[in-house]
Amino acid sequence: MGNIAIDGPAGAGKSTIAKIVAKKKGYIYVDTGAMYRAMALFIIREGIKPEETDKIEEACDKADISIKYVDGEQVVTLNGESVNGLIRTEEVSNMASVTSVNAKVREKLVALQQKLGKETDVVMDGRDIGTVVLKDAPCKIYLTASDDVRAKRRYDELMEKGVQCDLNEIKKDIIERDHRDMNRAISPLRRADDAVFLDSSSMTIDEVVSKIIELSE
Ligand code: DC
Repeated sequence: MGNIAIDGPAGAGKSTIAKIVAKKKGYIYVDTGAMYRAMALFIIREGIKPEETDKIEEACDKADISIKYVDGEQVVTLNGESVNGLIRTEEVSNMASVTSVNAKVREKLVALQQKLGKETDVVMDGRDIGTVVLKDAPCKIYLTASDDVRAKRRYDELMEKGVQCDLNEIKKDIIERDHRDMNRAISPLRRADDAVFLDSSSMTIDEVVSKIIELSE
């Protein structure tokens, strides 16, 4: 399998890049963060608090998360409902980071991701793709950028959607989220030994895409 694994912190540009690379290679793009976000949305809707581990684990059995493709776009479904439009809020981002430390949540979603990676060639992005989910992927990238660049990208993305936000708040949230994602006990975000490190702070999208295509050939 020619799978491509892309990991990195929030706002590094993973999904933008992964989508373009997938299109150019004729692969399927799999956004694993969206699955953790759908799980988080379910947890928020159930009124479960981040510290209620038992309830989070029970929720894993009640939340059926799957993905489908509509016009080439990944659509995440939560118990049959398409939730793409509901999972990009800061509330869901933070809850996804908090609840993704849970072993049962990870076990459930990793199984789904590994199944997708076996069925077809994928470009998959997330936090543990090169280290856990697609350990055997022949091409692994660790994509990052400076805190300021990542915060500005997230800010622009939200403003473009008409969501009012504060750049400093976004930066604070991103740093907090990265700290949690990098320091959790299970599958923390880290560069796989065989992943190529790419800092996209002063690279254009085209440059990053070309580099990854080159590395994957
Ligand atoms: O990539 P993202 O911002 O959509 O991910 C949301 C959260 O989900 C992120 O803060 C950590 C978690 N996540 C994870 O633990 N493992 C992944 N493979 C993808 C995301």
